[in-house]
Amino acid sequence: MSEALIKHFAIKLIAWHGKDGRQGLPWQSIRDPYAVWVSEIMLQQTQVATVLERYPRFMKRFPTVKSLAAAPLDDVLAEWAGLGYYTRARNLHACAKQVMVEFGGKFPADPVLLEQLKGIGRSTAGAIAAFAFHERAPILDANVKRILARLFGIEGAIQEKSVNDALWLIAKTLLPKKGVDMPVYTQALMDFGATWCTSRKPVCLSGEKKCPFEKECQANLSDQVLLLPRKVIKAKSPEFNCDMLLLRHGDSVLLQRRPDKAIWGGLWSLPESTWRAKEKNSKPSANHSVDLTAKELLQLVLPEEKISSTLRSCKPIERGVEIKHIFTHRRLWMQIWHVTSSDAMKFSGQDLKWVPLRQLGKYGLPQPIKLLLQGLSLARGDGLRN
Ligand code: ADE
Repeated sequence: MSEALIKHFAIKLIAWHGKDGRQGLPWQSIRDPYAVWVSEIMLQQTQVATVLERYPRFMKRFPTVKSLAAAPLDDVLAEWAGLGYYTRARNLHACAKQVMVEFGGKFPADPVLLEQLKGIGRSTAGAIAAFAFHERAPILDANVKRILARLFGIEGAIQEKSVNDALWLIAKTLLPKKGVDMPVYTQALMDFGATWCTSRKPVCLSGEKKCPFEKECQANLSDQVLLLPRKVIKAKSPEFNCDMLLLRHGDSVLLQRRPDKAIWGGLWSLPESTWRAKEKNSKPSANHSVDLTAKELLQLVLPEEKISSTLRSCKPIERGVEIKHIFTHRRLWMQIWHVTSSDAMKFSGQDLKWVPLRQLGKYGLPQPIKLLLQGLSLARGDGLRN
């Protein structure tokens, strides 16, 4: 490792941030650990542009860790709707409760303690400790891994434990000497990875801007910038089919609360069949029986004891759209089936519930289902809040 680079890295990076980093974002320059924590969780898998809109709204709705801990989970999920990766919202809620019970409502400053809280990984713990408490704690998210692998010419795949350990050690070695520099340094590292040392179009290859590390960066010096960090080749994620029931009575639709541990856990969605693995190379609709009858559909999606009563009051079933949704590790094709009922059958104790279209905004819904129902709602002139 170059001694000079280690010595000057933080100073040069902070200087870069003063000139070319992102300034004036609403979560910068805050020190309230609660506000820092919410921003870090929201920013994890969401674009900055979206967070700019949603972060102030979330903070207004839940201004303190106490208010978040006291809120029903459904309210938190509804506020999170559209941001995806709902485990983050469930963890936020659980973590807020943990902070209230275990830490008297005050986030700890020690990154080791922060990391023990629900939904806070080592890098996020470092970011919170640095931003809110000026702790000399390193971060190591995917952007930072890329910067360090390039700067120091790390050849191994970053998924390997030994490589990961080495990167944490480097990240620690590079920290600024003084705690007061930690917020700007941490932000600079994030911004440099997100805007300059990017995965596919790093500035050193564009020729338009001058990277402050071009003379020291091992990947640049050996023409390996796009090859580092090395990636392990991922297999294509598996595909599944399922049938979904869009059962309507008047202006209401039947929703089902999803089990906590499942995908979209805790959100309200349409009753659905179990997922079937899609055969390779088959057409999207090949696994759906084209002439599924109402009885067959209800048997797939509803509890046994509800089938005959529902069937008695149902008009014929109509095939609706097929929606494709891509999750991190799987792809799902959802075949929507429209059924209208003349009767509002009682559903109790099964997480099944009739919801008027105009009240959908109060429920946390998976994004594709929300868009589908928004379409219905617009067609009827009802409002569904974004
Ligand atoms: N991603 C995670 N934390 C971030 C932050 N504080 N600023 C910009 N992007 C981020």
